[in-house]
Amino acid sequence: MKISIFGLGYVGTVSAACLTGYGHTVIGVDTNQLKVNSICKGESPVVEPGVSDLLRQGVAGKRLSATTDPHAAVLESVCSLLCVGTPSRSNGSLNLDQVFAVGRQIGRALKDKNGFHVVALRSTVLPGTVERLALIIEETSGRKLNVDFGVASNPEFLREGTAVPDFEHPPFTIVGPSDSRVEAVLRELYAPVSAPFISMDIRAAELLKYACNVFHALKVAFANEMGAIGKGLGVDSHEVMKVFVQDSKLNISPYYLMPGFAFGGSCLPKDVRALSYQTKQLDVAAPVISSLMESNDRHVQRVVDWLLERGKKRIGVLGLSFKSDTDDMRESPIVRVIETLLGKGYEVSIYDSNVNLSRLIGANKRYIEQEIPHISSHLKNSIEEVLDCSDIVLIANRSAEFRKALEAARPGQVVFDLVRLAPIRSNEEKGYEGLCW
Ligand SMILES: NC(=O)c1ccc[n+]([C@@H]2O[C@H](COP(=O)([O-])OP(=O)(O)OC[C@H]3O[C@@H](n4cnc5c(N)ncnc54)[C@H](O)[C@@H]3O)[C@@H](O)[C@H]2O)c1
Repeated sequence: MKISIFGLGYVGTVSAACLTGYGHTVIGVDTNQLKVNSICKGESPVVEPGVSDLLRQGVAGKRLSATTDPHAAVLESVCSLLCVGTPSRSNGSLNLDQVFAVGRQIGRALKDKNGFHVVALRSTVLPGTVERLALIIEETSGRKLNVDFGVASNPEFLREGTAVPDFEHPPFTIVGPSDSRVEAVLRELYAPVSAPFISMDIRAAELLKYACNVFHALKVAFANEMGAIGKGLGVDSHEVMKVFVQDSKLNISPYYLMPGFAFGGSCLPKDVRALSYQTKQLDVAAPVISSLMESNDRHVQRVVDWLLERGKKRIGVLGLSFKSDTDDMRESPIVRVIETLLGKGYEVSIYDSNVNLSRLIGANKRYIEQEIPHISSHLKNSIEEVLDCSDIVLIANRSAEFRKALEAARPGQVVFDLVRLAPIRSNEEKGYEGLCW
């Protein structure tokens, strides 16, 4: 395939090297004449193991060239990969000047081009950027999206220092295409890459890149805070974390990574608080760990705010315990939501087949009687009874029987799902609202 690559920095140079290595023909484009000259000589403008050999072979095999002329590069290629910089502004916002400047250059070139052209944005950008890029191309070219050209989000996952092996064996190839023709072109382009090819919604692909990078940053910060706490306590943090990573059930796993309701129960809040307090005693700053309770509280408040904004006073709650198949209500976040609603004069009806007041004992019983006085007057015997006397019904844990509420809700009644029991997105017309999807 004949492609043009805009931006010959780390990502663009490595992409040019690897894609010519796969047999594609690449035209590199950069505004910097020195970088263009360097690529034309088969020399790498960036220091990266393995890149120079691939560039030399590409130039020798006449599959790699470079230019400062975007117009010619677009006319001679079927697909343009945008790898220009997206630096931070001083206020932290993303500077998209380079991306949109290339969009205008491609648009002007497309005026003179017949045939479908694909524009894939490899730079890291926030959701909505690819759509803005498409508009800019339409405005400058007079051409129509998905008729004369298509766009895609196509984030890059390489790391400097191991960029060539990362390019060849990424965790996945992500494409958020504007239509199926775009997807087909990119599928063919990346066919030699040994990784699952995943096609997804354009904005989801853009956000995925941030989910990955921010999670990596979170991992580093968490590990370092654990290290600092360990050192303060005279514990070797490597002894701890070497075993920590062996837990592939709860630690290094998909578990706990699906957006849903706040954490609760008798362990997580208590243990987060205890370790946060310990950091204060040690005089060790651990802002990630110390902000976890605040983050969790904000999530509970999101539910309360959403309900208060609706202005409906009759609220049904399905699930009282902090997770399904248990009657443990200690620090259950939904109990805090109920408490707040009752305090504001809301009428709350509750159903949870695992919560039987006559069987509750000990700390669990004391907790719920203290948090929700007269709780028995709010408890109902079935989902149907809750549905009958509420305008909004909350699904607060993953008990399978709560699916009934999704089917049995009457017109005008809203089901507010805190745990994504239904595999659907929020849909106002269908009376379904998800907490964060
Ligand atoms: N560096 C990495 O490891 C890495 C990894 C994954 C994703 N990313 C993302 O990829 C993007 C590029 O990163 P980078 O480190 O390669 O950037 P870079 O700053 O090294 O390179 C950008 C290049 O674009 C060129 N350029 C600017 N305007 C241009 C134009 N109008 N036409 C042609 N070329 C133009 C610049 O001269 C420069 O050579 C960023 O969004 C970055 O966040 C980077």
